[in-house]
Amino acid sequence: MTTRKPFICGNWKMHKTHLEAIALVQKVHYLLRPQDHDAVEVGVAPAFTALRSVQTVIESDNMPISLGAQNCHWQDHGAFTGEVSPGMLAKLKCQYVIAGHSERRALFGETDETVNKKAKAIFAAGMTPIVCIGESLEQKDAGLTEEIVGTQARASLAGLTSEQLGQLVIAYEPVWAIGTGRNALPEDANQTIALIRKIVGELGGAPAANAVRIQYGGSVKAANIASFMAMPDIDGALVGGASLDAEEFALIVRYRGD
Ligand code: 13P
Repeated sequence: MTTRKPFICGNWKMHKTHLEAIALVQKVHYLLRPQDHDAVEVGVAPAFTALRSVQTVIESDNMPISLGAQNCHWQDHGAFTGEVSPGMLAKLKCQYVIAGHSERRALFGETDETVNKKAKAIFAAGMTPIVCIGESLEQKDAGLTEEIVGTQARASLAGLTSEQLGQLVIAYEPVWAIGTGRNALPEDANQTIALIRKIVGELGGAPAANAVRIQYGGSVKAANIASFMAMPDIDGALVGGASLDAEEFALIVRYRGD
């Protein structure tokens, strides 16, 4: 029996000013019931500029909503104009930081090596990384999904302790499914996620493999979330576009339909 609590996190990407972000988190909170939070860990990852405001609202209204950032540098301080350090995010009471989202890999030169450094730095600052991995359409069409995902997982997670591997969150996000409306088939996503879990087991042992939470991401919406959550190895979702709409996101969190 698994004891992994599902984790559904909204990745707001480069959307929402801090004022809009406050309104969105308040609306999400209003739409969710205590039993929803009992069943699912709910998180939001606003832009850097909105983190402080959203954190203040979460804390002052006692919202059971986890706060995540979308990126960070791996150094704790220094001459890195435009970057934000893990320590700064920890001070804002971020619990999670997304590392290696495919948009950052594709558009901003992130590599498995930088993702690995970030994952270690996020842990060192007392937060939990959400490490993203996934294959492109060309790689999928060439039958390389397992090879690419395996390579990314091994390199991105290299050197983490067994304990860290067990605490980690991994988001499997096939690049071709992100923002396209074309979600992966739940069975296919589950198969790849099971492979990632196996690799975590090879790196950190069976307890880590059993504990690590692995989300699916890519065109998740209220209409398809239940089919993903029915899969044994899928422990939640990293939700992009659909998380910007409070009603839709609340329906995603309430995928059990009760
Ligand atoms: P969409 O849900 O918009 O496809 O984005 C997925 C994603 O990239 C979450 O990190």
